[in-house]
Amino acid sequence: MARLQVNIDHVATVRQARRTVEPDPVHAAVLAELAGATGITVHLREDRRHIQDRDVEILRRTVRTRLNLEMAASDEMVAIARRIRPDMCTLVPERREELTTEGGLDVVTHREAVARAVRALAADGIEVSLFVDARVPQLDVAKLVGAHAVELHTGTYAHATGAALEREIELLRAGAARAQAQGLVVHAGHGLTYWNTAAVAAISAMCDLNIGHSIVSRAVLVGMERAVREMIAIIDAATVGGRGAPLPMA
Ligand code: PXP
Repeated sequence: MARLQVNIDHVATVRQARRTVEPDPVHAAVLAELAGATGITVHLREDRRHIQDRDVEILRRTVRTRLNLEMAASDEMVAIARRIRPDMCTLVPERREELTTEGGLDVVTHREAVARAVRALAADGIEVSLFVDARVPQLDVAKLVGAHAVELHTGTYAHATGAALEREIELLRAGAARAQAQGLVVHAGHGLTYWNTAAVAAISAMCDLNIGHSIVSRAVLVGMERAVREMIAIIDAATVGGRGAPLPMA
């Protein structure tokens, strides 16, 4: 059954807009957990544009569910993760100039660097998930480099309409099945909203959905707890109420 991990990066984005102390992502994490989130996700970017080292350190001590740290597979980030010990690290591609993470990590091209990071993190008992496109070579190499899980990139699905939408959800379904058959845990995320999450939650192998921007956007208007509860209701209806939720309206 799919579960919700709330990505609280954009609470920190608002704080960093003024380089002040509010709103505090640590407070947002508490409220998300009280509303039923089963995990908290943060992305510590190389340029520290939103989440700061201090946030990850405090969250490690306060998160009562699971802490998922998204990060580049760099030596700097691996060292930070090994010191802080999140429950899970999700390795993502990162370019300074991008607005947000664009596309999955190319584990085929960067196989050696990814394998080195996976080995170092796993040696400290940290689960490693690789954020990849739902494509056969990426999924197969994810298994070969020793990942515990993959997070399927849903950004292309999120932007698709019409026939492309059908194609993209089918790619996600097939990718999830292939990853699961190899013994990988299957997560998904990026660009998921209150309108397009149900069809992804309904994929039978699906475990954690990492959702940030849409929840934080709604939370600004209705509060974090309500925003999280409403997303959990959508996920539960798609999974408990019968797999095979409809695609969003194109
Ligand atoms: N998963 C990964 C790997 C991401 O990089 C992001 C964005 O930080 C998300 C999920 C959440 O995406 P969104 O903010 O669009 O929900």
